[in-house]
Amino acid sequence: MPDTLDPHIRFGSNSGQPATRRDGVAKVTGTATFAADNTPEGLLYAVFAPAAIARGRVTSLDTAAAEAHPGVTHVLTPQNRPPLQGDPSDKPTMFSFRFEALQDDTVRYAEQPIALVVGETLEAATEGARLLSPHYETEKPRVGIDDAEPYGFEADAFGKPANTVHGDPDAGHGSAATSLDVTYETAPQYHNAMETHAVVATWDGDHLTLDMPSQALSMSCAGFAHYFGIPAENVTVRSPYLGGGFGSKAIPTGPYVLAILAARMTGRPVKMMLTRQQMFGPVGHRGQTRQRLRLGADADGKLTVIDHEGISATSTFDTFIEPAANASQGIYAAGALRSTHRAVALDVGTPGPMRAPGEASGSAALECAMDEMAEALGMDPLDFRLKNYAETEPGTGKPYSSKALRECYAQGAERFGWAKRPLQPGQMRDEHGHLVGWGMGTAFFPCPMFMADARAALRADGTALFETSAADMGQGAWTSLAQIAADSLGLPLDKVEFRAGHSGLPDGGVAGGSGHTATAGNALHTAGGDVVRQLGEIAAADPASSLHGAGNASFVARDGRLYIDGDDSRSDAFADILSRLGNAEIAGSGSASRDPDMAKQYAMNAHGAVFAEVRIDPDLCQMRVTRLVGAFAAGRIINPRLAESQLFGGMIWGISFALHEEARHDPRRGHIVNSDLAGYHVPVNADVHGLEVISVHEDDPHVNALGIKGVGEIGITGTVGAIGNAIWHASGKRIRRFPIRVEDLI
Ligand code: MOS
Repeated sequence: MPDTLDPHIRFGSNSGQPATRRDGVAKVTGTATFAADNTPEGLLYAVFAPAAIARGRVTSLDTAAAEAHPGVTHVLTPQNRPPLQGDPSDKPTMFSFRFEALQDDTVRYAEQPIALVVGETLEAATEGARLLSPHYETEKPRVGIDDAEPYGFEADAFGKPANTVHGDPDAGHGSAATSLDVTYETAPQYHNAMETHAVVATWDGDHLTLDMPSQALSMSCAGFAHYFGIPAENVTVRSPYLGGGFGSKAIPTGPYVLAILAARMTGRPVKMMLTRQQMFGPVGHRGQTRQRLRLGADADGKLTVIDHEGISATSTFDTFIEPAANASQGIYAAGALRSTHRAVALDVGTPGPMRAPGEASGSAALECAMDEMAEALGMDPLDFRLKNYAETEPGTGKPYSSKALRECYAQGAERFGWAKRPLQPGQMRDEHGHLVGWGMGTAFFPCPMFMADARAALRADGTALFETSAADMGQGAWTSLAQIAADSLGLPLDKVEFRAGHSGLPDGGVAGGSGHTATAGNALHTAGGDVVRQLGEIAAADPASSLHGAGNASFVARDGRLYIDGDDSRSDAFADILSRLGNAEIAGSGSASRDPDMAKQYAMNAHGAVFAEVRIDPDLCQMRVTRLVGAFAAGRIINPRLAESQLFGGMIWGISFALHEEARHDPRRGHIVNSDLAGYHVPVNADVHGLEVISVHEDDPHVNALGIKGVGEIGITGTVGAIGNAIWHASGKRIRRFPIRVEDLI
């Protein structure tokens, strides 16, 4: 990691350009190969039988019927499943969850694997799994927050303490001239990437190759190695293309482990691909929340306290919760802040990280509560937020590494026309007599970095090869990363070969936390810088070079040439330097992670402001989002086209969260009744109108060498609250449960 004030950083012509996605053509023409497209010689197919109930015990399985099927080769149940070397309750990596892999006959959630059927064809395995005809002893399932008692929770809230207090919240409540006490609820959501989870597992002795979509290649190797008792370097993950991930593809899960086990047992490659319905259980989700927000404000509208108490669902066998109350820690300058999390254990699969885990659901509740407080104070919601603008990080007092939120508010409000908004609800109608409402919310997301390594090689033909095991979920990471790589050597994008998506390459880290471009990007930038440094040393020592003798100078690469920094009169071509070396290749390496000194000194976040317009048919109570303007400041934007797409995607998920998405449990058996894309609603094109993204300029000299904050998750924050607030502004009704449904407005 270079010093963040490194004066040698120069940006070439690639960063900042709207290059189109490198994987785009392959994906839309069908030539991109996904994990499950791989069909090696001798392949077997594995299908797991899912539990149809959420709580109880499997009392019988007709294994004889399944085994009698001519295409079925093996049936695994808790009675005959071979042992694993690492226990499914172990947590070998930071993204590990306890899972169900046929360790006993207990059913802990619907869709839990209760048996695995292996067959010569997908049809045979599927048919075999149906022939098992399970019988159950059922217990009353607990699938809603009121079905079980919350318990005190000492585990962390996704890396943060479960409970955080700054200042004196009780004094804040006591001194408030206006107080608000409201409870919001958010529904369970399930990751529904276009590509469902899939693996093709192949053993060669004690070496394991996995074709598997992965957001975290090296970590996946370490995780699976643990369960199978082999060294991590014996596991190869190939993850060339992903059809989405959203957080769920960073985690080793039970179905994967069972498929790998089947491959080891049979000595043949085994493929497993989850059905859409099987996505609703064993591979993570966003847990439901109930959030109580108590806010106090003085007579001037200054917040005296934000008290955010979250109850979040988890499973009965693990501890991950949607850390919703974290959202209140970093945004507003309240006199006191308190965030608490309590968990309630339900008969559901363990939740996991889903796009903006915590901030998405937490900011939904917080931004609506802020709107309710503005209403109580008789203030414009934007003025109220500006009144409580945090100049330094609330609670810690740390300065921000950069914060252009004021500009986001101003530019977003201007584009939207916010100044014309009537203060009272129910004041605006359109030409069809539909109610019109305007609402807003603050967007906020931290900008973490993970750890990544990269390799660069400049070749004699003037091209370069860059390598890192980065994952591209479809957001265009490989394109942005290739742009950074090309810039580090001053080369045009088409001179750079970029290899990624294979665990044998230098560790590209985790595609998560909105930190992938920052982390892998800085590693690539450093690797390119290492090549430039070596070229400079070689040229300076070479009497034949026009840079001879420039030993203490620093060098920059531009247009295939090496220059002395700040002196354009002396330069040497890469090709000439390399040809004098006998056409050697110059290789460099780099790595990146967060500079701990910077992290100690500065608060680092991306910010934004989202403005929403909704129209409501007063007869049918149908709601439509007709405009959505988001202004975001997220440090350096490497590729404006792809960044805009990410922000669009996040904001569309905000529409989904506010109005569409909800997994609904049957209260008797506890299974999810809408576990397909017909019943589990997400916005389609007809639901998305007037979407606009404004990218607000922001230079950040502290966050990392390249000044990148990341845009993957922030778009969903702020948006949900803005839509809820617009619905109030149109209808005069506060609906405190997401998604908001037609029947809520009747
Ligand atoms: Mo994201 S939920 O960090 O993939």
